[in-house]
Amino acid sequence: MIQRIMSLGILRRGSVPGSYIPKIGGCYFGTQAASYLQDACESSNYSPMDHENPDVDWNNLGFGLMQTDYMYMMKCGKDEEFKQGQMSRYGSIELSPSAGVLNYGQGLFEGTKAYRREDGGVFLFRPQENALRMQNGAQRLCMPSPSVHQFVDAVKQTALANSRWIPPPGKGSLYVRPLLIGSGPILGLAPASEYTFLVYASPVGNYFKEGTAPLNLYVEEEFHRATRGGAGGVKSISNYAPVLKAISRARDRGFSDVLYLDSVNKRNIEEVSSCNIFILKGNVLSTPAINGTILEGVTRKSIMDIASDLGYQVEESCIPIEELIDADEVFCTGTAVGVAPVGSITYKGNRIEYRMNTQIVSQKLSSRLIGILRGVIEDKRGWVVQID
Ligand code: COI
Repeated sequence: MIQRIMSLGILRRGSVPGSYIPKIGGCYFGTQAASYLQDACESSNYSPMDHENPDVDWNNLGFGLMQTDYMYMMKCGKDEEFKQGQMSRYGSIELSPSAGVLNYGQGLFEGTKAYRREDGGVFLFRPQENALRMQNGAQRLCMPSPSVHQFVDAVKQTALANSRWIPPPGKGSLYVRPLLIGSGPILGLAPASEYTFLVYASPVGNYFKEGTAPLNLYVEEEFHRATRGGAGGVKSISNYAPVLKAISRARDRGFSDVLYLDSVNKRNIEEVSSCNIFILKGNVLSTPAINGTILEGVTRKSIMDIASDLGYQVEESCIPIEELIDADEVFCTGTAVGVAPVGSITYKGNRIEYRMNTQIVSQKLSSRLIGILRGVIEDKRGWVVQID
């Protein structure tokens, strides 16, 4: 089942929904996206260059920021609702030095990806889930949030406006980054007086510099990612800077990333810096339960459903670190990371190694997820949304 979503005010100038032309003049570009761009960006220096193929080595995409053409922006006041946003050229934004986000970290981010299929069609994966997660986070951080429709529409507009940056099928995706920030000035600790919802995008490939090689994780005992009652369960920007030190220490020692323990008992596994974690023992696939310190990943949820479909017993539970010792497999999931197998975990100086071959379960789950995205496996839950 493919959901097709239409966005607010996009279909103008006689463009026909679904009339996608995969390549024009050597460049992937849809007629709908082209016509929309002319409309949406008239006031923001629409450039004929925007039809040209970007000079990108699609075979070597990592997770570095690549500046694309357009971004979406929408503002509202403290006790207001978001109303109408607009596309503009990608560029710096102006912020007061006393903006709530700069001073008190009042901000959330999201991440979702736009993919191109063999037939040229452009697809998003469960963007409504990101919208709902942002709404949840906004409540936690006392911010107004865009409606699900506004959020998904903004993601769609941003992906289509930057469609020449969506990698060819199988080469990567366009990572779309929505942000919700307290942009109004504030001095005393309080919610900001104005909020900005912004969406930009960048083409990406593998998140880890190791590419698709198994990850070597280091279990961190000194630093914690989240605390009970804190904001670890929502995608607050303030959850990420505190792990930079742990990541850089681990990388200096040759590890790919860090696995964090719960901050109360220092015993139960929680998350990796940028992704959720799963462990497999026999037919049982477990992942830490959502308890306020675990981010409810969209890929996490999807992999749980796929694993159930394949006959695995899926459990959300409290997982003591000792369970890693006799696990058959460990893997990570996340929008940026995808499904990444773990080759080893080092805890208190001991390295636990996991089997790696083409038969591993994480590979099977990953292939199924990719198959759904590519349209070669039935999307029975309506996860994939065609946007062009
Ligand atoms: C994502 O997976 O989209 C994330 O937000 C992780 C981020 C640290 C790149």
